[in-house]
Amino acid sequence: MLLTNAVLATMDGGAAYGLVPRGALVIEAGQIAWSGSEADLPSHYRKLETLDLEGRVVTPALIDCHTHIVHGGNRAREFEMRLEGATYEEIARAGGGIVSTVAATRAASESELLASALRRVDAMIAEGVSTIEIKSGYGLDIDTELKMLRAARAVASQRPVRVRTSYLGAHAVPPEYKDRADAYIDEVCIPGLEAAHAGGLVDAVDGFCEGIAFSPQQIARVFDHAKSLGVPVKLHAEQLSNLGGAQLAAGYGALSADHLEYANEQDARAMAASGTVAVILPGAFYTLRETTAPPIAAFRAHGVPMAVATDCNPGSSPMSSLLLSMNMACTLFRMTPEEALAGVTTNAARALGLEDAGRIRPGLRADLAIWDISHPSELAYRIGYNPLWKRIFGGAL
Ligand code: NIG
Ligand code: FE
Repeated sequence: MLLTNAVLATMDGGAAYGLVPRGALVIEAGQIAWSGSEADLPSHYRKLETLDLEGRVVTPALIDCHTHIVHGGNRAREFEMRLEGATYEEIARAGGGIVSTVAATRAASESELLASALRRVDAMIAEGVSTIEIKSGYGLDIDTELKMLRAARAVASQRPVRVRTSYLGAHAVPPEYKDRADAYIDEVCIPGLEAAHAGGLVDAVDGFCEGIAFSPQQIARVFDHAKSLGVPVKLHAEQLSNLGGAQLAAGYGALSADHLEYANEQDARAMAASGTVAVILPGAFYTLRETTAPPIAAFRAHGVPMAVATDCNPGSSPMSSLLLSMNMACTLFRMTPEEALAGVTTNAARALGLEDAGRIRPGLRADLAIWDISHPSELAYRIGYNPLWKRIFGGAL
């Protein structure tokens, strides 16, 4: 297939957005075969089936690199409680929060988990998303962690979308292990990782390093195990306080450290040195009415790649719009629209260790989004508006 009369936002170097104003793009066998200025199109491609885009913008399809999209139930009641004055941490310590979603997720069947996730996945696909990272972490027992990961994998067999799974056994301490976090790590989290890995269900290992979750020492034990299995790691770090999670993650060469509201200059330096992506999650910042913003200027100054994701989950970020998270990253955190788009394409691919997606370049997968806009800055600019015209997944329109 040949796309002509396109504005290509290749996100692949050169001008801002890697922009090619009068571009053409050739798709062959599910891959990008050629892209560039229409004037330079080799003549043998002219005879291909052609789609005239009439000046529409083509970007790499979007990648949501941090979601908890598979989960049981919802937490609308906690939303009300926070409006009545309770904080996220108070609710968590009183047995609500993550643990209440654990109860709902344990009670749900695998097909119920899949069905409720697909509603949210469909909303993402409608916004041009091609790849979704999905975490476990609401099971906190081995069977339910495996059930979540199987439901996550099943998403990719039910819809034209790629899924990357992260094992998040170290998300919270379940009620049956209250005050016995170390025993939970030894008896459930690590054996659960082994079982999930043996079942081919784990692309990365994640954790939550926080006062209401696990200490850096506990996370390090999980990461050591991940390392022995050859699985890359990532971490929810410095979301509510600074416990040293970002530097711990950097020390393990983590793919990403995520949230990072309380990260500092030192953390940025360590992440730059290890090539760890900073995953910015404005939906959680907004929902929790956090006031400390992540140190975007330090990440920028030290050359830390920044991704942007929805953090789609029932508690801290009940959001399934990646376009809205781009807008929030700009308005709340002063990221530029170009950084926001890089955050849901090239840098999101990097946060997942994907080398075949996230930019428009010959040889990469033909995962593309075609937008009814005239310049890529419009994607982060509008609020609650979806300008997707068509999505191409693995070369198929
Ligand atoms: O990414 N920070 C920890 N985990 C989730 C919240 C999960 C929840 O509240 O259910 C997050 O914000
Ligand atoms: Fe999260």
